[in-house]
Formats: sequence, structure tokens, C-alpha cells
Amino acid sequence: MLGNFMYCNPTKIYFGEESMNFLNDELKNYGNNILLVYGGGSIKKIGLYDEIIDILNKCGKKVTELPGVMPNPTLDKLYEGCELAKNNDIDLILAVGGGSVIDYSKALSVAAHCESDPWEKYYINKEPVDNEIIPVGSILTMVGTGSEMNGTAVITKTDEKLKRGRTFDYKVYPKFAIMNPKLTYSLPRYQMVSGCFDIMAHILEQYFTDTDDNTSDYIMEGMLRSLIHSSLIANENPEDYEARSNIMWCATWALNTFIAMGKTTDWMMHMLGQQVGAFTNATHGMTLSAVILPYYRSIMKSGLGKFKRFAVNVWGVDAKGKTDYEVAMEGLDAMEEFMNKLGLVMSIKEFGVTEEMIPAIADTCIIKTGGYKILTRDEIVNILNESFHGTYESVLEKIS
Ligand code: NZQ
Ligand code: ZN
Repeated sequence: MLGNFMYCNPTKIYFGEESMNFLNDELKNYGNNILLVYGGGSIKKIGLYDEIIDILNKCGKKVTELPGVMPNPTLDKLYEGCELAKNNDIDLILAVGGGSVIDYSKALSVAAHCESDPWEKYYINKEPVDNEIIPVGSILTMVGTGSEMNGTAVITKTDEKLKRGRTFDYKVYPKFAIMNPKLTYSLPRYQMVSGCFDIMAHILEQYFTDTDDNTSDYIMEGMLRSLIHSSLIANENPEDYEARSNIMWCATWALNTFIAMGKTTDWMMHMLGQQVGAFTNATHGMTLSAVILPYYRSIMKSGLGKFKRFAVNVWGVDAKGKTDYEVAMEGLDAMEEFMNKLGLVMSIKEFGVTEEMIPAIADTCIIKTGGYKILTRDEIVNILNESFHGTYESVLEKIS
């Protein structure tokens, strides 16, 4: 049964090859001072930077630049942005990039005019936003996180090895998102497939909860099938527009709150991946692919009916003559085969995690309660060890 909910998503989407034509009109809604936020330079290589500067100049905007937002943006970088935004009386933050740049811009939008320390206020104490919020607009170049249409902003405090997300309410969502699938053609394959897997992980975090018959679950199964289909095509031919546009749109709907309405959600896989990321600075989607199999194989017995349904409805496993357990396992095996085809990272060892780091990662990992099983700290250690050694099966014996 769906629970009670309020649904609101204020982000305006401009989608498609011609979506940039709308930037000019959007800019008319904001004051003169624009903070142009971007990453390490990919937007310059693809000519996007010049195109945007040209539009901003023609609109008569005063542009302040904030380049160098790194993957897994840091708190120190956020402090730097706060100074710049305050000193230049910024009216609009224009975020051009992937999840890191857009997350960073949303964090900056609430942090710039915050009178106390934004990390303590918003990330540790999770206080509501009671200061001025600078509006954010986004131009998406990397697909996966859904940041373009949600209120989440993930920041890493490097010295304490803490990577923490905060989901703000709809006042912090980007006001608009320009989404041209062609802008993603230049992504390195590693980033592209990492993004594809991040989308899958987002859907699954919301799918593997509850036991009742829920409309959202049917929507998610359709999204997963489309995503699997399109990811395999894009992996073969990165310039297949249809596949890239389907992946882009699927990513947005996978994490803009819509499919979570009235459901409980898990997010334990993300907590595991996030802390692996905090210790290694690894690419987000890859941290998820490296932990998902040991995690799901360890909780599968607690949510067997749903894992069986996943196997049949998403992976087309034939259930005839098999036990529920066998069907569910076949589903996860099919997912593993798909992951191998994409070339995803399957072990945290590849990020430079050492066996000595594992207890510390487990100690700082947030434990979620919405999934099929609430993990203990020792179970987290086991899952990380299984990923490290690549011997998933034994997790099932350790965690019954
Ligand atoms: O910095 P540049 O030079 O732009 O290069 C980036 C970066 O190195 C590159 N890139 C982006 N677009 C490109 C491109 N390279 C060539 N051509 C293009 N068109 O890709 C690299 C990765 O970019 P990044 O923004 O870091 O990737 P992603 O979109 O996966 O974002 C990851 C961040 O989002 C957070 C993650 O934790 C991580 O910090 N997440 C945000 C969420 C949200 N807002 O809801 C949810 C997610 O679960 C996730 O936690
Ligand atoms: Zn994610």
C-alpha cells in the first residue's frame, strides 16, 4: 500500500539537441551577476564553455567564474565558493557539468549566505535552511546522479574522511536543467558506464523495499529494462542518440523523488559506496558496482519474494521448476553478467582499499533501516571483505 505523500518537483527541464536555445530566455528571469561553476575543463574541450560565455555576454550578464570543482566535491572547495559568491553578489549559480558540479552548486546556494558553518549546520546537524538561497540553473554533461532535478548535494570532508549527502527541499532544486544527450558523447567510457550503473543503483535502492504490490515497482521494472537495453547499446556505440537520450531521461526520473513516493527506501548500498569513496576518492558509480553483489547476496534471503520478482520481471529468468532461491540467484547472476559486459569495477581493491582500511570504512558507514535487513557493523565488514576478495558466495553463509 502506498503511504501518504506530498509530491512537488519545481525543476523546469529543457531536453534534447536544441535545448541550449532556451538558456537565453531563462537568463532573463535572474539578475545580472552570474557565477559560472564548472569542473576540471571538459566543458572547454567540447566547446561548451565558449558557447555559454557567448550567450551570457549577449545577455549582458556579468560573469564570475568558479572552475575546478572536482569529482566528489570537497568542503574546502565549498568554502572557497562561499567567499566568491558573497563578494560578487551573485544572482544565479549556473552549474555546467555532472553530479559533482551540480551538487556543489546546490550546496553553495545554501552555504553562501549561511552565518554559521554550513558543514555543521546542514550536514552534521541537518538543520533547515533559514538563510537566503541563491538560485541554481544547470547544464548537464554527465548522466547518472539525477542531481539536475533533485535537492541532494553530496560533499566530502577530506580531513575526516567523511562523504555526506544532504537532501534539501524543493526550494534548493535547480530552477532549470538543460539536457542535451549529445553533450555526453565525449564522456570517457569509464564515466559513461559508471553513470549507467549509478542509475541502476538508484532505482534498486527504491525497489528493494516493502513487500506489497506497488505501482512504483512496475514503473521501476520498466525503467530498469530500458536502462539495461540502452546501456548495452551505448556501450557498443557511444554516439547512439536514442540510447544516450533514454539513459539521460531515465537517470533524471530514477532520482527526482517520483518513484520513491509512498514507499520506504533503502540507500544502504550508497552508504557503503559513499564511505569507500570517502577513503579513496573513487568514481561514485563504481563504488556502488563494487559493493552491490556482496550486499544483495547477503540480504537476499530476507527479501526473497522481491528478488525473485526482480529476476523474472527485469532479467527474464524462467522460474519454472525452480525454487524461489534459485530464481532469485539467477537474477543476480544475470545482473553480474550485465555488469561484466559494461566493464564495471567489481572489487573495492581496485580503488586502492587495503584490508587494514576496511574496519575504519565500516566504522564510519551510516547504517540505514529501510531495506530488507538492517546490517550490523560486522556484516558491513564482511560485505567489504567479500568485495575486496571477490568471493561473494561466502557472504551468504556468514550472514543468514
Ligand atoms: O571535471 P570535468 O573536467 O568536467 O570532468 C568530469 C569528471 O572528471 C567528467 N565529465 C563530465 N562531463 C563530461 C566529462 N568528461 C567528458 N565529457 C563530458 N561531457 O566526468 C567526471 C565525473 O564527473 P562527476 O560530476 O564527478 O560525475 P557524476 O555525475 O557521477 O557525479 C558524482 C557526484 O555526485 C554525487 C556523488 O556522490 C559524487 O560526489 N551524487 C549525487 C547524487 C544526487 N545529487 O542525488 C546522488 C548520487 O548517488 C551521488 O551520491
Ligand atoms: Zn548514486
